[in-house]
Amino acid sequence: MVNMAILPLLLCPPVALSSGAFIFWRFLMAQVIVADFGSQFTQLIVRRIREEGYFAQLVPHQRLVETLHAIDDVKAIILSGGHESITAADAPRLAEEVLQKGLPVLGICYGAQALVEAEGGRVLAGAHREFGKSHVQVSPESILYPNGGNDLVLWMSHGDHIETLPEGYTARGHTETSPYALFENAAKKRFGVLFHPEVAHSEEGSTFLRNFLIHSGCVPDWNIGLHQAQAIAEIQRQVGTEGRVLCALSGGVDSSVTAKLVHEAIGDRLVCVFVDGGTMRLGEAEQVATQFRDAFQIPLIVDDASDYFLEKLAGLTDPEQKRKAIGGAFIDRFAAIVADLREKTPGVDYAYLAQGTLYPDVIESAAGTMTIKSHHNVGGLPEKLGFTLVEPLRMLFKDEVRALGRSLGLPDSLLMRHPFPGPGLAIRIPGEVTRDQCDLLRLVDDVFVGLLIEHGLFQKIWQAFAVLLPVRTTGVMGDARSYEQVVALRAVTATDGMTARVYPFAPEFLEAVSTRIVNTVRGVNRVVYDITSKPPATIEWE
Ligand code: XMP
Repeated sequence: MVNMAILPLLLCPPVALSSGAFIFWRFLMAQVIVADFGSQFTQLIVRRIREEGYFAQLVPHQRLVETLHAIDDVKAIILSGGHESITAADAPRLAEEVLQKGLPVLGICYGAQALVEAEGGRVLAGAHREFGKSHVQVSPESILYPNGGNDLVLWMSHGDHIETLPEGYTARGHTETSPYALFENAAKKRFGVLFHPEVAHSEEGSTFLRNFLIHSGCVPDWNIGLHQAQAIAEIQRQVGTEGRVLCALSGGVDSSVTAKLVHEAIGDRLVCVFVDGGTMRLGEAEQVATQFRDAFQIPLIVDDASDYFLEKLAGLTDPEQKRKAIGGAFIDRFAAIVADLREKTPGVDYAYLAQGTLYPDVIESAAGTMTIKSHHNVGGLPEKLGFTLVEPLRMLFKDEVRALGRSLGLPDSLLMRHPFPGPGLAIRIPGEVTRDQCDLLRLVDDVFVGLLIEHGLFQKIWQAFAVLLPVRTTGVMGDARSYEQVVALRAVTATDGMTARVYPFAPEFLEAVSTRIVNTVRGVNRVVYDITSKPPATIEWE
């Protein structure tokens, strides 16, 4: 049960609308609350728990107490790792009220140290640091790992050392340097692990998490099918029986799944709008129309706005100015379509805008991150046109969105596409963007992606694309001199796009790509491969 009045304030950052109204979106009651103490792995904890079939939600550690007051159904609390030292005077601490709730608690790394400190144990700074792979000896009496184990490979990342356990706690696992790598207080159902069970490199890490949840009385009742049914019910509740929804379809995974879900919920009261600014990949605009209008029979307005966008981009070379121009052009076109729609159907109000916001965006905006690039999606539309947002994916991670899309019948050819930025090819053409340059890049990109698919590499890569450089170099083709443009290839692996590593292609593959591009695309005579990870570079070039 929940105190409905305050719950949304705690769990979802509010979206401010021009009218001054606030809307919130929330429909699931989490059994497990993960308190974020700042570790880079915190989102992984939530994902692992959901993989086990339990619905978990992440809250900043400062909001843990409020959240526990707001939801009565919470069965277990997990305290994440963090980058601070609990021995510092101003380090985040575990509030007394959390423990007073009497709920089962699992502390991970910093969370374990915070639990020790809150319960009267002792943590020392700097002694016995452990980073990376560790071998943990686990006692067979351990509740979290009942069979016990020798030399379990578990991943550590901590600088502080637990010197004394609090009263009532027993060590259940140790490494060479940490006597309390795993400990428990069976009576209070409180546990601590110095390692990170959530990371992929931790052998059987999920076993520790699963046993904690089972022992806490959690019920594995979450799956994507259930989420789909609840999301549809929530959309119907939010929009009502008369409400009309617009959806800015980009052809990407998130907006496509959003559109299909909202269509399932309210049928033809959804109208999708696809604004083609002329910066999409080869054949993409046609594919969107074929898929959504013809195959799914979802009402779709296609706006061929390439002239308008290219006019706005003319003469601009600064990346941020280009991004702003595209964002502005998008809002202009969308606003014009809405005005037209409202004029043609008087009395029918399109008050809602469906948007494919994902959970990592929600978490990041709650944390308030620094702007490196002004991302353009449908930002600005709610404020400008007074829409209320419908955001049915805001509790999901990308792989869960793909699973939901599959459950809704979207084809893998759409769901498994690489992410594509809102401003499209315009940010892959450093310098001025013209129609000719877009056409050229479309051909190059298509050759590259085609070869990735042909060689079975496409699905191993998070994102792969070509960048058309405003640089000409000398070449020799046939027996003649050529003086044409350079293309840079980019291919990275990533899990969320926040960090990325260069994909290690075999040199023969790169050579084959280079040969095919230069042989089939006129205007390019040189191909280079970008070997910079993120950070320090970003994935896109602009
Ligand atoms: P960067 O270049 O910042 O990109 O490392 C990280 C991820 O975000 C994508 N990206 C965008 N996506 N609108 C989007 O929807 C944008 O304006 C935008 N800019 C970058 C990028 O393709 C990568 O997946």
